[in-house]
Amino acid sequence: MFPRKGASEEEVLAELEEKTAEDLTFDSGRILGSMCTYPHPFARKVISLYIDRNLGDPGLHVGSQKIEEEAIQMLSNLLGLEKGYGNIVSGGTEANILAVRAFRNLADVEKPELILPRSAHFSFLKASEMLSVKLVWAELKEDYSVDVNDVERKITDNTIGIVGIAGTTGLGVVDDIPALSDLAIDYGLPLHVDAAFGGFVIPFAKELGYDLPDFDFRLKGVQSITIDPHKMGMVPIPAGGIIFRKKKFLEAISVPAPYLAGGKVWQATITGTRPGANALAVWAMIKHLGFEGYKEVVKGAMELSRWFAGELKKIPGVYLIREPMLNIVSFGTTNLEEVEEKLKRRGWGISAHRGYIRIVMMPHVRREHLEEFLRDLQEIITR
Ligand SMILES: Cc1ncc(COP(=O)(O)O)c(C=O)c1O
Repeated sequence: MFPRKGASEEEVLAELEEKTAEDLTFDSGRILGSMCTYPHPFARKVISLYIDRNLGDPGLHVGSQKIEEEAIQMLSNLLGLEKGYGNIVSGGTEANILAVRAFRNLADVEKPELILPRSAHFSFLKASEMLSVKLVWAELKEDYSVDVNDVERKITDNTIGIVGIAGTTGLGVVDDIPALSDLAIDYGLPLHVDAAFGGFVIPFAKELGYDLPDFDFRLKGVQSITIDPHKMGMVPIPAGGIIFRKKKFLEAISVPAPYLAGGKVWQATITGTRPGANALAVWAMIKHLGFEGYKEVVKGAMELSRWFAGELKKIPGVYLIREPMLNIVSFGTTNLEEVEEKLKRRGWGISAHRGYIRIVMMPHVRREHLEEFLRDLQEIITR
């Protein structure tokens, strides 16, 4: 019920504390199955300083708009592009929807179809429904990467684009993006890479010596990339990123927003009013940590995932779905549902909806948390 009379701040805060007691928190170390994390303290500071900025009305917040633009350029550079076009958006879902929207708007076909791997994130289901684009699923190979031959078989005159994934949601698999890029070039189609998760992992992991496929704008067929700062970028939610190689993609999804203070303003995002503070936090975190800082974070996460995968293999009845490529380790067990239920009852934040349990080595996950988890898992399984 909407209260007629207000309560004191203390009363309201006390009620909030009581009601959120049920929440798991990232700093407790119990959340092992999320792609989000406890935001970096510096990013939190920036958010609190600039909480009022609205990038939906950039005429009012001219400086913030320039900072968003600089953030997009720094992300473009990370992804091998000198100058890119895009926005800091609400997350990977919005970024993927924008890419599909751009491909559809630029294609001259009546019944648009998008080819994407079976492992693609459900955000494409939303894009399909909203934009009336038919999804054509390409099968996966034994290693859970997309079968590029199957992608080629599914290309028709109605195809508006291809999607490849650099860090799948379930297993952290990086598709053979170089082969997809070649295919896209051969057929004159745009390739979108969903690196919502992998975008803030792969560039650093590669420099650390991990053998991972190229996935970014260095490949000429790649026309757009989703990269989410609110995942491994450690920026508070919401902070996703969409970057296009060419201006024409952004123009294809821009609508005039005439009543705003900036006069001739164009908006390409789904959201109108949108948080400037989060875009500023993206910029600030990149400046603050730099390539070397993020590399350190990724180093820890990758090493932890290799160690964890090794420990899992020692438990009878537990098997890895595949060797980890990134900092995601997914495993199955006998009586999976029962094991999942028991782990949850012990307060672990995990999920097993695809027939396996996914553990994501986010920056808040430490070895001692995983050791405790392994003890619980072993106990449950051997009982
Ligand atoms: C590969 C991939 N793409 C897109 C998304 C959607 O991101 P968001 O939840 O930020 O909208 C996710 C989320 O887990 C993802 O793993």
